Amino acid sequence: MNVPLGREHPWVDATGRRADTLYDLVGPEWFVALVDRFYDGVATNPVLRPLYPDDLEGPRHRLAGFLQQYWGGPAEYSAERGHPRLRIRHAPFRIGEAEREAWLRSMAAALVGGDLTAPAAAEVMEYFAGAASHLVNNPT
Ligand code: HEM
Repeated sequence: MNVPLGREHPWVDATGRRADTLYDLVGPEWFVALVDRFYDGVATNPVLRPLYPDDLEGPRHRLAGFLQQYWGGPAEYSAERGHPRLRIRHAPFRIGEAEREAWLRSMAAALVGGDLTAPAAAEVMEYFAGAASHLVNNPT
């Protein structure tokens, strides 16, 4: 969430309004909408769909809550789920290069609809790329 030193502050909207965090810039509903678009993609993705439960409501709720918290919002995810421990929570799923790539493509497509400035979108995508690589548990 913190901006690395020496980098331009990314949380600025198209009108030039500056915020301390992404959450402050876009508000809670932005994350809900992002995750809705993401899971709409997952629903028809042949690589990802089999990994998820039939009902995607729970996954939508958990991922949106996690992202709101991660990017500067209230800690509601942890109040409901405890410490994220994402690597452990992803251990039951076989995540190789194909799964990582499909997840990132689906998230990149969802992000396009989010109307962020280019530096903000780049910051968010860089985070997802690092997090997704960290979750690979079955390298091929
Ligand atoms: C690398 C590819 C990834 C795959 C294949 C994958 C797959 C999954 C699956 C199958 C679930 C279970 C659905 C549920 O019950 O909620 C899940 C949960 C979750 N994933 Fe991922 N995921 C990936 C990457 C990521 C990344 C990069 C993040 C965060 C930046 C993330 C965050 C989460 C969160 C917060 C949950 C819910 C955890 C919980 O509270 O139980 N995932 N993921």
